[in-house]
Amino acid sequence: MARTNLKPSTSLYPQPAVMVSCGDIDGKKNIITLAWAGVACSEPPMVTLGIRPQRFSYGLIKDSGEFVVNLPGTPLLREADFCGNTSGRTVDKFAALGLTPSPSAKVKAPGIAECPVSLECWVREVIHLGSHDLFVGEVVNISADERALGDSGKIDLARISPLVYGGGDYWELGKKLGIYGFSKKKA
Ligand SMILES: Cc1cc2nc3c(=O)[nH]c(=O)nc-3n(C[C@H](O)[C@H](O)[C@H](O)COP(=O)(O)O)c2cc1C
Repeated sequence: MARTNLKPSTSLYPQPAVMVSCGDIDGKKNIITLAWAGVACSEPPMVTLGIRPQRFSYGLIKDSGEFVVNLPGTPLLREADFCGNTSGRTVDKFAALGLTPSPSAKVKAPGIAECPVSLECWVREVIHLGSHDLFVGEVVNISADERALGDSGKIDLARISPLVYGGGDYWELGKKLGIYGFSKKKA
């Protein structure tokens, strides 16, 4: 099949659409939707966020040294889009959307109670890349709605129905295709 070379871009699909909550020492809290979010390390558990310095959340996260990555399920599609198109400089997004701040165990920033899973993180490094800075965060606690957990106590993707993003559009997950390592198992 013929292939075409395209202009270099961030066409690495799919991306998670996450709602990152953050705050300052005066108790101001905010939510920013991010798709430039990834997993970076297992031991210690580390995640990354790519954030433009112009975002209101950028200063909150840099100054406080912490953030919470909340995984919205597909029912929170509208809220996630709103938090990615409205600045906390002028709007209290928790109040505007009726979202509930939930106390975190290891960071001062609240999580979002309506999100089934929240990863509490301490900022370990900030790397300047260009349009975005890369925040490397160590995951120091995870809180999960028990309805998001399967029988083994593990986070169950089918139950949380994570919001997926790519190419300017929102998606949901399709069906499960297999389990890790299945190709090496004897039939
Ligand atoms: C789906 C989606 C993904 C986004 N991903 C990013 C991102 O990865 N990095 C970023 O800096 N902004 C991203 N944005 C834009 C910010 O969320 C947006 O500018 C937001 O209003 C900033 O809020 P704040 O000023 O309260 O921090 C995204 C927006 C949407 C809707």
